[in-house]
Amino acid sequence: MSNTTVMRRYFEKPEDELRARADSEPVCLYLEVTNRCNLLCTTCPRTYEELEPEADMSWELFTSIVKQFDSIKRVVLHGVGEPMLVKDLPERIEFLKKKGIYVLFNTNGTLLNEPNGERLLNTGLDELRVSLDAADSSVFQMVRGRDLFDRIVRNLTGFRRRQRELGVELPRVSLWLTGLRETIGQLEAFIRLAHRIDVPEVYLQRLVFFNDNPIGMARSESALFETTSVQEGETIQRAEELARELGVSFNASGATEPHASVKQRREDQPWSLCRRPWTLMYFTATGRALPCCIAPFSMHGYDSFTLGDATQQSLREIWNGDRYVEFRANLMSSQPPRACANCGLRWSL
Ligand SMILES: C[S@@+](CC[C@H](N)C(=O)[O-])C[C@H]1O[C@@H](n2cnc3c(N)ncnc32)[C@H](O)[C@@H]1O
Ligand code: SF4
Repeated sequence: MSNTTVMRRYFEKPEDELRARADSEPVCLYLEVTNRCNLLCTTCPRTYEELEPEADMSWELFTSIVKQFDSIKRVVLHGVGEPMLVKDLPERIEFLKKKGIYVLFNTNGTLLNEPNGERLLNTGLDELRVSLDAADSSVFQMVRGRDLFDRIVRNLTGFRRRQRELGVELPRVSLWLTGLRETIGQLEAFIRLAHRIDVPEVYLQRLVFFNDNPIGMARSESALFETTSVQEGETIQRAEELARELGVSFNASGATEPHASVKQRREDQPWSLCRRPWTLMYFTATGRALPCCIAPFSMHGYDSFTLGDATQQSLREIWNGDRYVEFRANLMSSQPPRACANCGLRWSL
């Protein structure tokens, strides 16, 4: 059975088969290899508050987490921070690849220069997602906080050229744009840019935001979710047509069509579609277990949704420990954990 089939089966588990005690082990890990960053994105909580003291996940903690479950098929190497700041990232990827795990991460692309790119190409990394968020330098600066657009585009161009020279397909490279009301007009130019620099895939990422005390551009007014205007809907459709014409694959996060991704699927209890606490575990750089990669973007501070500590407990103790079981029970109820109240299956980072 392929990794994708395994993932799909867990995600499609019907509601009446869900139990607060998980009856299977996680298939995916999110490992925040660092919480350090070199950008100041206006959508990212990291820019505005210290979520945890600055740290890289130690090699010992990283490997001890990975070794605990044989069920893991997929590892995502980002949390809130820039993974390419971690010097031994290639060794970590190789460690996972030797175990036959599908490995990917999102990066801001600032450090994807020639030597770093060359090291990555030799690791067997499966997917590299570059969060660019803009099709030009001034919009980039508004969203990502620093004037590094040209450098990133240069890096990416070189990386794709090198992949072509070597005739290698992996990692699959994609460009990501967080859907903001202020920047959705960039979408067509974004797809043209991807085509020009030979990046085969583009993703529209749904903005996650705080309902209480919003920060920067992570606010309901900037989100396209549910309130897409006719004009914005048309922009997305035009972008879909352009992508087809240019042969660029264009999708939304959560494996859906871009125009569908801005619509909520189940209006009364959107959180009930989520299967993350039954399928994946997320660890911050310090070993804190969180339910998913969305919670840090929807609820301030980690304390209310911390489910364990990998430096003190085994993953099995955490996975069906009291806090996880209570969290799942609440998620199945009409009163979900606060971090989940606005969530749904299609929110993906
Ligand atoms: C937190 S970043 C960490 C990895 C890396 N530093 C990067 O920027 O790709 C992970 C992903 O979250 C996205 N992101 C940041 N703020 C977001 C928000 N408020 N809603 C949805 N996605 C967001 C980023 O664009 C990126 O694709
Ligand atoms: S979105 Fe990524 S690059 Fe931007 S501040 Fe957050 S962690 Fe850094």
